Amino acid sequence: EKVVKVGLLGFGTVGTGVVRIVQGHQDDLVKQTGLGIEVHKILVKDKEKSRSINGLDNKITSDPYDIINDPDVDVIVEVIGGIHPTKEYILDALEQGKHIVTANKDLMALHGAEILAKAEEKGCDVFYEASVAGGIPILRALVEGFSSDRITKMMGIVNGTTNYIMTKMSQEGADYADVLKEAQALGYAEADPTSDVEGFDAARKMAILTTLGFRVPLKLDEVDVKGISSVSKEDIAYGKKLGYVIKLLGLARRDEDEVEVSVQPTMVHKDHPLASVNGVFNAVYVHGEAVGETMFYGPGAGELPTATAVVSDLVTIVKNMKLGVNGRGMVAPYKEKKLKDDSK
Ligand code: NDP
Ligand code: HSE
Repeated sequence: EKVVKVGLLGFGTVGTGVVRIVQGHQDDLVKQTGLGIEVHKILVKDKEKSRSINGLDNKITSDPYDIINDPDVDVIVEVIGGIHPTKEYILDALEQGKHIVTANKDLMALHGAEILAKAEEKGCDVFYEASVAGGIPILRALVEGFSSDRITKMMGIVNGTTNYIMTKMSQEGADYADVLKEAQALGYAEADPTSDVEGFDAARKMAILTTLGFRVPLKLDEVDVKGISSVSKEDIAYGKKLGYVIKLLGLARRDEDEVEVSVQPTMVHKDHPLASVNGVFNAVYVHGEAVGETMFYGPGAGELPTATAVVSDLVTIVKNMKLGVNGRGMVAPYKEKKLKDDSK
């Protein structure tokens, strides 16, 4: 039987987790798809850097086109981050007919429409479950689980770094700068943590949630954003005195097709379930007209939780490859897809 070959772009926190899960859970992956999955080649920036998984030196390259142009590679997993050069790599890989898994919210929030249009043209899949709320399968829930419903409101904690910082400041009186350093050392923060602390990362995630959940494309500049950098220890202590904790909340609501999205530090009453979402954990409330209120909770960042989402996307792609139905996956409503009229 064929082994599906993966070209892994990036071997940092998430890339390392992807290799660990593909290797460690291989039997379970084969049970579900009937095919083996192999990380065939790995792109890094610095080939000299020491890696926490040994024995992969023969797979590691610093030439992206050694992977993108390799005819043996079926799927590209992009876990580099940022807009450039990742956008170019993904578009070039799609041009070559490769399916894509990405954890890149910046790219999908800003250029998702272009990437998905190219994927459609080429009959390729693009999945990006890891881009929002790490290990919580929230995008699948929105696209598949609630396909029958009309979602009217989503609210939650979608950035692990800031929740980690706010939790440590609130519970241990820790210093903002020290805890940010800890979050970086744990691999939770973005390469430039400004995205986390100023709320941009959460805003990009809210844009993706809104586009998939409300089925209405949303531009990032429509999101009202405020981060946690202006929240002081005194603000936290004052809130605590009154029975509140401060959380960086994303909020999205719609009324007909009027959509309102914001990210801001918010006083949450200590008895509200969101007040108990601590550390790197995320939680998202989804309110649907028919289902009512649901809540999704789990680790929002980190090596293995994030990699579970990436590898689940890989499994879906392999299943689609077997069925010959690629290009019909988690397609956002960025563009209306014309249905073939079979009656003619
Ligand atoms: P890291 O910074 O840990 O790893 C990035 C990897 O990409 C490194 O291996 C680096 O190479 C490589 N790289 C960086 N720039 C280039 C380049 N120009 N060309 C080739 N390789 C390059 O990032 P993370 O693993 O934390 O994040 C990856 C993506 O996943 C980002 O989009 C992030 O937002 C997203 N994400 C991260 C989560 C997390 O918990 N960390 C959770 C959810 C999503 P080298 O090793 O040589 O430096
Ligand atoms: N920096 C992000 C966070 C990574 O802390 O939530 C997960 O998307």
